[in-house]
Amino acid sequence: MRLVSARLIRTSWFRMAIGYAVLSIALVTMLFSLLYWNTAVFVAEQTEETIEAEITGLAEHYRQAGLFGLTEVIQERAQGQRLSLYLLTDPNRGPIAGNLNSWPAATQPGEWIDFDYQRPVGSRMVEHRAHAQHLVLPGGFHLLVGYDVQDQVRLEQRMRQSMIWIGALALVLGLGGGLLIARHWLSRVDSVNKTAGEIMDGDMSRRVPVSGTDDELDRLARNLNDMLDRIEALMTGLRQVTDNIAHDLRSPLNRLRARLEVTLMSEQDKEVYRDALNETMAETDELLKTFNALLLIGEAESGLDRSKLETVDLTARIADAVELYEPAAEEAGLVLEADIAWDIVVRGNPNLISQAVVNLLDNALKYTPKGGTVHVRAGKTGDQPFIEVTDSGPGIPEAERARVLNRFVRLESSRSTPGSGLGLSLVAAVAKLHGAKLTLGDNAPGLQVRLEFPAAAVR
Ligand SMILES: Nc1ncnc2c1ncn2[C@@H]1O[C@H](COP(=O)(O)OP(=O)(O)O)[C@@H](O)[C@H]1O
Ligand SMILES: [Mg+2]
Repeated sequence: MRLVSARLIRTSWFRMAIGYAVLSIALVTMLFSLLYWNTAVFVAEQTEETIEAEITGLAEHYRQAGLFGLTEVIQERAQGQRLSLYLLTDPNRGPIAGNLNSWPAATQPGEWIDFDYQRPVGSRMVEHRAHAQHLVLPGGFHLLVGYDVQDQVRLEQRMRQSMIWIGALALVLGLGGGLLIARHWLSRVDSVNKTAGEIMDGDMSRRVPVSGTDDELDRLARNLNDMLDRIEALMTGLRQVTDNIAHDLRSPLNRLRARLEVTLMSEQDKEVYRDALNETMAETDELLKTFNALLLIGEAESGLDRSKLETVDLTARIADAVELYEPAAEEAGLVLEADIAWDIVVRGNPNLISQAVVNLLDNALKYTPKGGTVHVRAGKTGDQPFIEVTDSGPGIPEAERARVLNRFVRLESSRSTPGSGLGLSLVAAVAKLHGAKLTLGDNAPGLQVRLEFPAAAVR
């Protein structure tokens, strides 16, 4: 991997780092300007004040002691290693006294000047910077009083250099840090992108790596993985259903086609054709029923559209279903008893709940032998509404109770009765959709199916 790539520079992290680097440089500049102002400028002002005081003093001395007295004082002060500079000249700028050899530059009286001069340091002569003021004395004599400011110049230089260095350091650290952070984030975001790419290429089992630091990217990765788990589960379910449909609908369709083929093979009389068509229609109806059941299960499993939630009057729904099945129960020689409390309501999808109750009644009537009893109950335990359907038939062995909830599962003993094995699957899907608990139990003898809805604030 290259240290700096175009992609890295385009990351928001890198841009943020540049922003911070610029900000720190601005801060450093500000800080140094303040420091510079407070020291260098202050020292320069001090120097000028000192020079002005001295020049005033010398002018006073000239007035009192005359040219000779002034020359003496200047001669005296110019001795030694002091940093003060003096030059007294005649009106033609010919030197009279002082520690400067010549007038350094053309100046106007009262003017401040900066100039370089040669100063002995040890055995060598070194160029130093000086600051001075020019005064004209009565009689046309010129006096220049100055001060060696080489130390100040050096200090200013150092400060400027430090500022440049610290600014450069802030820039390098800012950019370097920004690049490192951007690289770290980019590599982690890349791992998410890589996973997404692999999934798009068809490998649904890939998951985003989690670093274990529990930072925001980890949380994002975990959420993405949960989402992928759910999508994978849904897709697997869908594939299973498709397989089941293909498998379970092929034989009836083949049968149907074979009958039509046989019928068409030779000239038949009208009655034979009519019988064949009737049988075909009956089988088509069965196929349609299976399709409808699958569609309903699909609807129930796809989750609830919150806006389609309704208050369902369980009492009325169950009473309707029982009424619907009364003639069939009588015909089958069964007793159908109902024990339904008033005013039982749940939030949900009324059609799906009705269909679940109908499926349970249908099974009870279908699998209970003549002379048996089917009992439907609905009520509340605490605030939890429940529906219960029991019969006195053969029941379902405990080991099979989970399996019969899957699509197309029918017990071996039921092969002779018509059915598609989708009834209980729908009940299970409806239960899941409504957050209800579905239990298959033993009615000794017979089957007990119980649906317990969550206690919900209705109305
Ligand atoms: N009340 C019952 N008594 C005995 N067995 C039952 C009962 N209800 C369901 N079963 C068994 O469970 C299987 C699955 O039921 P279901 O999903 O309704 O499919 P279907 O009724 O179409 O066969 C049935 O084939 C049957 O073997
Ligand atoms: Mg059934």
